[in-house]
Order: sequence, then structure tokens, then C-alpha cells
Amino acid sequence: MDNRPIGIFDSGLGGLTALKALRQLMPQEDFIYFGDTGRVPYGARSPQTLRRFAAEDVRFLQSHNVKMIVAACGTISSILSSEPPAGLAVPFSGVVKAAADAACRATRSGRIGVIGTSATIRSGSYARLIKQKLPQAQVVARACPLFVPLVENGYIDRDNPVTEMVARDYLRAFAEQKPDTLILGCTHYPLIAPLLGRIMGEGVTLIDPGRETAQSVKEYLLSHELQSDEKTSRTRYFVSADTEDFDEIAARFLGRPLECAVEHVDVDDLCR
Ligand code: DGL
Repeated sequence: MDNRPIGIFDSGLGGLTALKALRQLMPQEDFIYFGDTGRVPYGARSPQTLRRFAAEDVRFLQSHNVKMIVAACGTISSILSSEPPAGLAVPFSGVVKAAADAACRATRSGRIGVIGTSATIRSGSYARLIKQKLPQAQVVARACPLFVPLVENGYIDRDNPVTEMVARDYLRAFAEQKPDTLILGCTHYPLIAPLLGRIMGEGVTLIDPGRETAQSVKEYLLSHELQSDEKTSRTRYFVSADTEDFDEIAARFLGRPLECAVEHVDVDDLCR
């Protein structure tokens, strides 16, 4: 048993998709959530910068005495691959592997689509893992860089006309391939899953990396006897930009007000 919190980080709101699923699966756990909103988006950054951000985010979470760290960010997970950030003293998980495995289980036709940030798509991370499992799979990938700013600014409703116009343009990339499975390869994208699902059509299974990863994190904690035996659970939220914007959109996505005030971390302190 280990009653320390689980640390989760992302560039902003995206990691809430993992947090939401983790809290449903393990209601007795404590969490520390860090959204690096002062430096979002991550998806257009170079691999060196992303490695540095990952090391700084991890150091921040470790200063809160976490027992495990989840990089709930497709971009960071793609760049780090399976090698954890330098200086890490606790177990670490990204989100790419669980999502690629889920897509391989879900597909019937072998035609899998992937959407993600520019850095993720450039890395080829999802396609590589899918091909290892299903060498016959036909993978089409498309970067969708406008989705993260749209989500961070609250353009997440199922019928939002701006997000819909952008999404229709991006998703045209799959018109010929006709995938039966689409990986939402950036953790921000499940916040607009209802809209994306409507455009892709009913027969297409959408894979949410945060949700798939939550399941594998639970299995890891149980098999290593690291689960908490507390009766209550607490989540603390930290962001590196404005706390109010985060609070409002996070509450909409989580379906209830946050249980405590969002705390601010200075980006300069992260870099020290
Ligand atoms: N949510 C992140 C991801 O999964 C980061 C997106 C970004 O900041 O560009 O890729």
C-alpha cells in the first residue's frame, strides 16, 4: 500500500482526460495535476525543448512526493518514447502505448486513423507501435495543430461552429482511407470527442489515450501493491498561467466544480 498521490501532467487541459478516468477507476487515490498552461501548446516545439519541459514538469511533481507520474500528453509521450525523463525516481507512464494497443484491439478492417499534434505525428510514434502489433494495418496520420488552442479557449461544445469548420477540414484527410478506428492521439482531443465522432460517423471507434492509460496505470499499481488504502480522495490542481480560465473549462469537462482552488506555479520557478 502507498498513500502518496499520483502525479499527472500535460501542457494544459488535456491531461484531465486521464485524471477523470483514473478517478473513476480508483476513487480512493489522491492526485496532483499540473497543466503547463504558461507554455501551451507543446505540439509545435522541438524534441530538445520537449525533453526539457518534461524534466521540469516531472521535477515539479516529484517535489510533491508523488508515487507515480503519468505524462498525460501524447506529445511528451511520443518524444520520450519508453525512456523516462532524466532524474526520475518513481514509476512513469506515457499514453501512446495503451492507445495504440486499444486501437489494434478495436479495428476490424485494419484501417486506423491517427490525429495528434505536429510533434506527435512527425515522431511516427502511434504508427510504429500499431505496426509492431498489426503489421498489415494501414495507418493514416494527420496533425491538427488548431485543436489545442480551440480546446484551451473553451471551444468544446458538440455544435461549436468554429471547431466544426476546422475539424471538417482536418478530417477530410480520412475520406479515402475510411478508417474504422481513430486514435485521438493528443489528450486534448477527447474534450471535443462528441463533435469529432459526429463528423467521423457512427461506425468509427474513437480511442481516448487518457482513458486507456488509466486502465493500465490501475493494473500497474495493483500488481506492485502501490494502491492507496485511504477512504477519501483529494486532487490538487496547479497551472502555470491564469487559474480562472482553467478552472472554468476544467469544471465543464469534469462535469462538476473543482473541489479546491487551482494553484499557480511560476514558469520561472519550473526552470530553476
Ligand atoms: N495534450 C497534449 C498532447 O497530448 C499537448 C498538446 C499541446 O500542447 O500541443 O499532445
